[in-house]
Amino acid sequence: MAAHDHLIVAAIVVAAGSGSRLGADVPKAFVRVAGRSLLEHAVAGLRAHPRVTSCVVVAPADLVDLARELTGLNVVAGGATRQESVDAGLRLLGPDPELVLVHDAARPFAPVAVIDRVLAALTAGADAAIPALPVTDTIKQVDEVGHVLSTVDRGALVAVQTPQGFRRAALVAAHANAARLDATDDAALVEASGGQVQVVRGDERSFKITVPLDLALAEVVARG
Ligand code: CTP
Ligand code: MG
Repeated sequence: MAAHDHLIVAAIVVAAGSGSRLGADVPKAFVRVAGRSLLEHAVAGLRAHPRVTSCVVVAPADLVDLARELTGLNVVAGGATRQESVDAGLRLLGPDPELVLVHDAARPFAPVAVIDRVLAALTAGADAAIPALPVTDTIKQVDEVGHVLSTVDRGALVAVQTPQGFRRAALVAAHANAARLDATDDAALVEASGGQVQVVRGDERSFKITVPLDLALAEVVARG
């Protein structure tokens, strides 16, 4: 058993967004795929990992009770930004967990093996560990009228997923320093406060449901 294998691991599932790009008639985490909400899929994936001993959910204020019914977990209301929602989850978790996984409810199929890689990087000493994949599209920098300024070297870029893992103390400190950065992930806050962020290999099945076409793919993946 490695030196850090005893560390307590908890998870926060952020599900408080509205899903404006998906445009469904309920907030995105409550949209159903293969008969279950995205939130339930995401929670089941985390709970399938033997080291995840507790899990909390952050939901829209008016759906806290429904999220509790669906998951049987502790649920707290989120904020206007993802960062505020993660903050709410951190407060609900309390000080016991040494390692915290932050996961998007919008990524219902993240495999257990990705959690293994994230935890291994934390065990090896990183403040934060984030799963990512190489970027497959060509990326260009453009100005406000759509003229291309440059073509970015794709070889130096990765697309980042969740669950992202953190030493709880590093994540709490990063959030305290963050003021109102409104970062789209928590690792950006750790980077901004000088912490060491390690990239590990992500997985195509950890894709995020963002637009309606993603739901069609999710139905296929859910039915295996
Ligand atoms: N999230 C959250 N609280 C917010 C915003 C986002 O908990 N105020 C969560 C979402 O529920 C989602 C994850 O963060 O699980 C990733 O965000 P995103 O895919 O952008 O979801 P939404 O913000 O809901 O979607 P959109 O940006 O299209 O409105
Ligand atoms: Mg959003």
